[in-house]
Amino acid sequence: MADTVTIIDNRTGRQVECPIIKGTYGTPVIDIRDLNRELDLFVHDPGFLATSSCRSAITYLDGDKGILLHRGYPIEQLAVQSTYLEVCYLLLYGELPTQAQYEAFRADLNKRNLVHEHLMQFYSGYLHNAHPMAMLIGITGALSSYYHEAMDIHDPEDRDLTAKRVIAKMPILAANCYKHSVGHPFVYSRDDLSYVKNFLNMMFSVPNHHYDPPASAVRALDILMILHADHEQNASTSTVRLAGSAEANPFACIAAGIVTLWGRAHGGANEAVLRMLDEIGRPENIPKFIARAKDKNDPFRLMGFGHRVYKNYDPRATLIRKVCHELLEDLGTVDQPLFEIAMRLEEIALKDEYFIERKLYPNVDFYSGIILRALIIPTSMFTVLFALARSAGWISQWMEMMEDPELRIGRPRQLYIGPKKRDYIPIDQRV
Ligand code: CMC
Repeated sequence: MADTVTIIDNRTGRQVECPIIKGTYGTPVIDIRDLNRELDLFVHDPGFLATSSCRSAITYLDGDKGILLHRGYPIEQLAVQSTYLEVCYLLLYGELPTQAQYEAFRADLNKRNLVHEHLMQFYSGYLHNAHPMAMLIGITGALSSYYHEAMDIHDPEDRDLTAKRVIAKMPILAANCYKHSVGHPFVYSRDDLSYVKNFLNMMFSVPNHHYDPPASAVRALDILMILHADHEQNASTSTVRLAGSAEANPFACIAAGIVTLWGRAHGGANEAVLRMLDEIGRPENIPKFIARAKDKNDPFRLMGFGHRVYKNYDPRATLIRKVCHELLEDLGTVDQPLFEIAMRLEEIALKDEYFIERKLYPNVDFYSGIILRALIIPTSMFTVLFALARSAGWISQWMEMMEDPELRIGRPRQLYIGPKKRDYIPIDQRV
């Protein structure tokens, strides 16, 4: 039997044979590109619940089985055995680097880990209490002005250079959002530190103190960043691809991704989780918040619960939960009330029919906020950390898209439900 689906328009009897395409894993897709030409129909799928937007070889996730692979490597192995920078290389180039390739990659990044001094002046335009995500959006967008005319997005070498610039400069832009908010001097990037330690150094070192973060903190953040590095065609990645499909400047595309990530339904959830836990305040208050989450007349949702794709469990959440326990134990903060509330909340929600029925499990953001709090990262910076980690995924997906022979500008269609054609009425005749 042919691998096709026949779509018949019962109104006219016309039909179209659509090929079924299989990937390496996962749900096969129906290629409906002939549908409009043959039947004069579009498909309607708000929120893209059943739509594949591209071919991609970067990340695979199976929401029912709780599987997440980057370039074929299970996230569980990467989180335990790899480093964030190695995962960046893997996402970008498709293979784990040899020692020599890794050293060359690091050296290349080190050549690019400065930003123009003029760009640093952009921060002064923001109030000290501006949300760091608002700053990061603006500053990343501004970076596009430094790399525009001289960069050819159709040249593979320029694209590679762009990817390295993004990975090298995003920690600087992110850390400076924090420095600006606390009024401390910006700290320059250091070639001798690991990627994550360098970021922490730019965040927390000050001229009058020696700063040396505990190894457990560096490792916890490294794992957290690995877990956030890429996640298939999520909202922010799709935004980067959509903007990129119009041949927009790639730094501006990354800024567009940051805009989308900021939303509470997406990356903004890690900040929202902590604000929610703070609001709950005491374990005794949990039932009240669970009841609110279940109440259809209350817009409140349990932040850090649920996922569009993971309907079993989020493998990142399983990993991060363990890291969270280990870190808090190592830092001696295991008794902190916030963590206790989080654990009680999780326990209660997992037994509740409402959450079981709807397959609402804790997602990665439920635990990441607790780790970041333990690392003394301010709550408003949580989504910035997510953006920093995800920029590797965004730029890898952009690179892949630019090499895709099927690339066309992203241009969804719509179901028009507005008024029928009508004639203009001059203002003095309107009632
Ligand atoms: N608390 C209470 N009810 C929920 C929640 C929640 N967190 N999430 C979904 N529901 C209910 C929802 O009301 C609906 O109920 P019903 O069928 O009775 O109308 C049902 O579950 C299905 O929800 P949905 O909104 O159709 O699901 P979705 O796939 O469109 O949304 C989601 C997924 C992640 C946006 C949503 O679960 C949510 O808002 N979660 C809280 C925010 C959050 O933690 N986001 C981080 C996601 S993971 C990291 C990332 O992607 O950046």
